[in-house]
Amino acid sequence: MSEKDALVRFGISMPQSLIEQFDALLEEQGYDNRSEAIRDLVRKALLAPSNIHPEQMAAGTIVMVYDHHVSDLPIVLTELQHEYHQEINSTMHIHLNHLQCLEVIVVRGVVSRLRELQQRIQVLKGVFYAELSVTHMDAEVHANSAHSGAHDHSHSHNHDHPHSHEHEHDSKGALHSRPDEDGEAPRIK
Ligand code: NI
Repeated sequence: MSEKDALVRFGISMPQSLIEQFDALLEEQGYDNRSEAIRDLVRKALLAPSNIHPEQMAAGTIVMVYDHHVSDLPIVLTELQHEYHQEINSTMHIHLNHLQCLEVIVVRGVVSRLRELQQRIQVLKGVFYAELSVTHMDAEVHANSAHSGAHDHSHSHNHDHPHSHEHEHDSKGALHSRPDEDGEAPRIK
């Protein structure tokens, strides 16, 4: 933020218990006031944590906690996961207590698509949080002729979203964003 920026005041509503926990955290971390802490949180959110290119393949997890009593949330979450079945390898569901469910979704696919799924989960009412963590997927399997052999396992991915194919290729050929005939995701060479 430029120091020349005018400060804008706005109100935030949150549950009493949440603000109490937040205040305790601020005290622990040495913040003088909530505003500076919230500004830091916003800056952190704006600086996307991942250096992974949005069109790169990655594997990871989405961990979420939600209140399964909230209207039709379980149905909505199920439908959403079906929509992303190409990206979802597995889902583990743990009933934490009478209200809360913990779900761990193992995902694999193009990072932008994984983020999109995480964001669509995050914004649903009744979802306390949903976090995506990803790691580069080993590209060697894709980069050689492993798929030309006798074994034929499915490795295609449907991507309804538009792709940009104008990435810079560095001298090491780090990233190719060239879909092949079956529209497969970008791969690393
Ligand atoms: Ni449950």
